[in-house]
This record gives sequence, structure tokens and C-alpha cells, in this order.
Amino acid sequence: MSFICVNDYEVYSKNVLPKNALDYYKSGACSQLTLRLNIDAFQRLRIRPRIMIDISNRDCSATVLGYKIKYPIGVSPTAMQKMAHPEGECANARAVGAFGSIFTLSTLSTSSIEEVAKAAPNTNKWFQLYIYKDRDVTREMVLRAEKAGFKALVLTVDASVFGTRYADVRNKFHLPAHLRLANFEGLKSNKINHAEQNSGLTEYVNKLFDSSLSWKDIKWLKDITKLPLVLKGILTPEDAIIAADLGVAAILVSNHGARQLDTVPASIEALPEIATAVGNRCEIYLDGGIRYGTDVFKALALGAKMVFVGRPAVWGLTHSGEEGVTNVLNILGREFDETLALTGCKSVSDIKKSMVVHESTYSKL
Ligand code: GLV
Repeated sequence: MSFICVNDYEVYSKNVLPKNALDYYKSGACSQLTLRLNIDAFQRLRIRPRIMIDISNRDCSATVLGYKIKYPIGVSPTAMQKMAHPEGECANARAVGAFGSIFTLSTLSTSSIEEVAKAAPNTNKWFQLYIYKDRDVTREMVLRAEKAGFKALVLTVDASVFGTRYADVRNKFHLPAHLRLANFEGLKSNKINHAEQNSGLTEYVNKLFDSSLSWKDIKWLKDITKLPLVLKGILTPEDAIIAADLGVAAILVSNHGARQLDTVPASIEALPEIATAVGNRCEIYLDGGIRYGTDVFKALALGAKMVFVGRPAVWGLTHSGEEGVTNVLNILGREFDETLALTGCKSVSDIKKSMVVHESTYSKL
């Protein structure tokens, strides 16, 4: 089999991963309507290309939080990556570094903050944060991320309780016995066990995460760190405006890979009204459903500064560790560059909102 598009890596992974891990990575919440929407909504958008423009010199780079990145395509946090490959998050982070973009490490990782920092010292790394009921756990994690050279904190704001993923409940999802949540070494909270009747992760989250999290905690977080704060999981202009008012550095428009509240809009559907409401008050990114270079272009046209991919990197990792992630990112990068060329754009600043419209613009014809 040749691997020429992101989908090839997904098909491969679905054939080789053990059921407990595969179902965990691939599932969305409940009916999985939003999981399908994340992909389908991109297909309902049409690109309006401009032609006869000299695009012989193109530049795919972007500047995010003051850092220049080679492509506006980073990697979102996904948990427990050693279920996909023995080198897990370390391999993923190295690949993103070589690609010249941003890697986000999950709190629930199977390689620790320090291990990833050591494995990928030159990668621009961000740390995803869940707030634990025991605030000292969170505080400690923030300090460790700062010390290890991570450049931003990505606070997940859409997981006050965990979404129900039916397959994980059926499998009683658990972390395989040889793996640990590496950021919790030596603590009981480093394992996700078989639960009696539920996904072990849901039990873990319900026991340990702080479901009282609210806007006032943004101030608490800003008081304990100097790192820029990215809020991940915003889907409405109302919340985006509150976040901007609180002075966060960025918001990541995301529905958590469709794993939390089912039937919310696709991220790309939620993006335009958020971009209009927020303007330039903070940076805006998007994740959810990016599978082609054209998807990256559409997200940038509708107001995102960059996009992140979660599952595609996991599929690359499953295939061949660092090399697989590198291949997946290079495919997306190449396709994005091709989209720039074929739309008459020399750089990301040439991408205009008017270049992407909903299919209904044409369906009346
Ligand atoms: C973790 O964040 C998950 O969605 O499973």
C-alpha cells in the first residue's frame, strides 16, 4: 500500500491498532454526529481561486504568539500516545519540530513533560492543561512546563465532565498495564484502570478533574504563570468575547475532536462568527476535521491564524512513529502549498475571506 494522503494512514491504523486503543482514538461522543460534521462541513465549503498571478515564490509560514512557524499546521493534544507507538509523544514532538511547527503535549500523556522536552528540545512546545480538584497538582504541572521550556499553556475549557463515547464504555477503556500517565509518576493518579461499568477515563476524570472550573479561574491561572494562555474548546462568540476581555493570548475554536458534547457545530462552522466577534483582540486557531491542505486554507480564510490536527498525527505515529507523523505533516504542508499556488496566493496574508463560500452559494444554479 502506498501512503499518499492522510486517509491512507487512518485506514492503516484502523487495521492494526488493538480495539481498546483504536476505539479510544477514533470515537466521538454519543451519536457521533459532530464527528462526521467536522469532516463534512469542510466539504460543503467551496474555494474561489484567483488565476494568472505569479506564485513562483511562495511562503507558507505564519507567525503565532510571536513565533515564526514554517506552516500554519500544528499538532493538538491527544492523550496516551504510547498506545499508538512505543515512542509516543516524544516521536510526535520530534516530527513536529522538523516540520517547523507547534506540538501540544496533553496533561494525560504517556511521556512526561521532561521526557518530551529532552527528546525534542528544538520543537516549539505548548502544554495542554486540565485543572485538577487538587490545585497543587495543576500548579506543579504549570511550573514543570515552564521550567522545561514550553512556550504556552493550552487550557481545555470544554471538559467540565467527560463526554460519553459509547465504544469506550463498552470496552471499559483502560490504559494498557505497561503504560502510565507519565506526568503523575509515583502518584495513584498515574493509571487509568478498568472501571466496573464505564470507560476508565471517565471515572478518572470525574474523580479528579475540577468540574467547578469557571471564568474566575482564568485569573487564578494567570496569577501563577507568565506563559501565554490559549483557551481550547470555545464554540460561541459569547464565550470568545469573555475570553478576549480576560486578556487571553488566543482561543482555539474546537469541539474536542467531537468527543465532548455531541451535535455541537463543526469547528469550521463555529469559526466565522467567532472571528467576526473577536477581531484582532486575540489570536484565533482551529482544530477538528482537518484532513486536506484545502481544509487549512478554508480555516485561514474564515479567520484562523493556524490549525491543529490531533488524530492525523496519531495515525502517522501508529504507522511508523516519528517518520509517520513527519509524512502526515508533510502531506498536509504540501497540499496547503499547492492550494496557495492554485488560488493565486503567495503567502498566508493573501488568503481572503471572499475566497471561501458555502456550497449553497452555488446550489441555486
Ligand atoms: C482526552 O482529552 C479525551 O478527549 O479523551
